[in-house]
Amino acid sequence: MFTRDEAARFVPRGDSDPQDDALLAWELLYRLEPELYDRLANAERLHPGVVGWLPRGVDQITEVGAGTGRLTMDLIDRGQHVVAVEPALPLRRILRRKLAAAGCRDRVRVVRGFFDHLPLPDDFAGLVVSCSSFTPSPGHGGDAGLAEMERVCRPGGCVAFIWPNHIDWFAARGYRYVSFPGPLCMEFASHREAVELAEIFYPKALGEVRRLGSRMVPFEVLGVNPPRDLAFKVLAG
Ligand SMILES: C[S@@+](CC[C@H](N)C(=O)[O-])C[C@H]1O[C@@H](n2cnc3c(N)ncnc32)[C@H](O)[C@@H]1O
Repeated sequence: MFTRDEAARFVPRGDSDPQDDALLAWELLYRLEPELYDRLANAERLHPGVVGWLPRGVDQITEVGAGTGRLTMDLIDRGQHVVAVEPALPLRRILRRKLAAAGCRDRVRVVRGFFDHLPLPDDFAGLVVSCSSFTPSPGHGGDAGLAEMERVCRPGGCVAFIWPNHIDWFAARGYRYVSFPGPLCMEFASHREAVELAEIFYPKALGEVRRLGSRMVPFEVLGVNPPRDLAFKVLAG
């Protein structure tokens, strides 16, 4: 199910087992059950402070690892044009569908690409951003991916990673960190959906999700670090 480019990044030794390799398991989910993944991502709303922090009035924005558009839809209001780079074809299809439904297809170009191979020229965008996608591992970003994101960002522009998992890794590369306080819940469409998705993605929290009886479930209950932060660098102008 992976293209040659994808296999080289996600299964570099050719023998990984998704039971032991969480990043590979997510890649399989994006391709086998993209609508299920989209239901989960829809429930994981970003802290409003995160989107509010991003620069406004940017000419060109590039988002990498756009998925089904959790962040992309908010970027439309912050720039003239957005290029959304996403390797997984099923997720690109869902994102295009959402953009068409929102009447935004002319403002956002959805393209295939990878952190370490962006189909864009040097100094292309004033904001180069990624949400919940980049990791230090070479197949999901790494130093080559970071260098490529910075290549595409113009001098004086901002490179930002929303909901970063490896804050120290970014700090060691000159990135600053911002976090927004306050309680944060996963917002499922209904309590029934909260139970259904917890059963699949957070089985250890299932009892507590049932007991809460609500469609709103604090991230802590699920054992998930809430999406309230970002790492960023403003490139020298
Ligand atoms: C957890 S999803 C996040 C999607 C979206 N940014 C969001 O916040 O909903 C991770 C995304 O990273 C993408 N991804 C994984 N490896 C990548 C790579 N090497 N280059 C670019 N994107 C990648 C996946 O296809 C997926 O869309």
